Amino acid sequence: MDKFIIDGGRRLYGSVRMQSAKNSVLPLFAASVLTEKRVIIRETPPISDALCMAQILRELGAEVSFRGNDVVIDSANACCHEISSSLTKELRSSVFMLGSLLTRFHKALIAYPGGCDIGLRPIDLHLNALKRLGVEIRERDGCIYCRADVLKGADISLDFPSVGATENIMLAAVKAKGRTLLSGAAKEPEIVDLQNFLNGMGAKISGAGTDEIEIEGVENLNGITYKPVKDRIEAGTFLIACAICGGEVEVVGVKAEFIGILLHKLRENGCKIHVKNDKIVIESNGRLKCNRRIETMPFPGFPTDLQAQMTALNAVSSGGALVVENLFETRFKYVPELNKMGADIEVKGRSAFVRGVERLRGASLTAGDLRGGAALVLAALGAEGTSEVLDLSHIDRGYYDLQGKLKSLGADIKRVRV
Ligand code: UD1
Repeated sequence: MDKFIIDGGRRLYGSVRMQSAKNSVLPLFAASVLTEKRVIIRETPPISDALCMAQILRELGAEVSFRGNDVVIDSANACCHEISSSLTKELRSSVFMLGSLLTRFHKALIAYPGGCDIGLRPIDLHLNALKRLGVEIRERDGCIYCRADVLKGADISLDFPSVGATENIMLAAVKAKGRTLLSGAAKEPEIVDLQNFLNGMGAKISGAGTDEIEIEGVENLNGITYKPVKDRIEAGTFLIACAICGGEVEVVGVKAEFIGILLHKLRENGCKIHVKNDKIVIESNGRLKCNRRIETMPFPGFPTDLQAQMTALNAVSSGGALVVENLFETRFKYVPELNKMGADIEVKGRSAFVRGVERLRGASLTAGDLRGGAALVLAALGAEGTSEVLDLSHIDRGYYDLQGKLKSLGADIKRVRV
């Protein structure tokens, strides 16, 4: 297992290009089994979640190869509708496979999905919506058995705008008989990307990006070559890194409107932000003011996937901040690690009370989940002295070559074998 060794205190300068969005690429992998034709997903980072999704497709009988920056998926010979627990436990996004498998094979068997340990993460919204489309569901021994001889379009209303449930419904309804009208849908940019991908294959979907999505079932779907949207969470992570360390960094590839709320908060901290086309430039003097309040919400609200990184920034800013996590129950597990570095953060239920300190000290830290792990890296970059960040497997799920990109900006970070 690898670890990072980080010597803190360097300012960051330069330009960095973002990878394709993890949260787009994963549902696109699932969507690729909807056709027997070849699918090419361009510029796909070999993050471990994508490798795991590739392995799931191979288990189904598809051929998947990473060629340069692209992934080529040929599922003409896919014939299996079951996904083993060893893979679904690795990756929560395997739940998208339910919708895809039902469309392709009219049946699916998957073990309950896993992923980052950040809360309960039930899938009741997915299952109830699938039932509305005519799917029979049985749950036994940690497995979900689904069957639908005919998928029928229906009116579905989500009580909460779940990203995964919205995507699963799109995948299950795309070839269903008749029209599906989904209200209360999630509005994340990655959902618009899935709509564009599916429509490129011949689907008839409209409304993604609003809370109402209409899906007119089609008979056939074709192959496609597609370039996914860039990763707004990676972009946010680099912008916050620069805010913490000080310096001037240009992040390339992500539309500012996809992280509008983060840019607003960073300006509140005292950073200067300039936007030109798909470039966002941040300038920070390295000593900022706390945000009074950060509260995570579905898009376009503050993303839960940037909550930990933003808490790390507030931990070294002047004043105090209240951070409220509304999406996931246990997404403050990284806080004791920050406190080890000298941060002053108290967690009560879904709230963290941050009292900013002048500086953090280097320490030995363990990444417990993907975004919490990224927050520890950022805190270490801004800290006095040397830190090590252990257990990079979580960080590798969502960031490709994080150390290389940070190094190119002037950070002192090394990845070493333990
Ligand atoms: C997706 C993202 C993840 C992000 C999250 C919220 C992917 C691959 N992952 O995860 O990075 O943090 O959106 O923006 O795109 N819920 C239920 N029942 C359900 C489904 C969800 O109660 O059936 C609850 C969850 O427990 C959670 C909330 O809804 O409290 C949001 O979950 P959801 O939007 O579904 O997140 P994911 O799709 O898992």
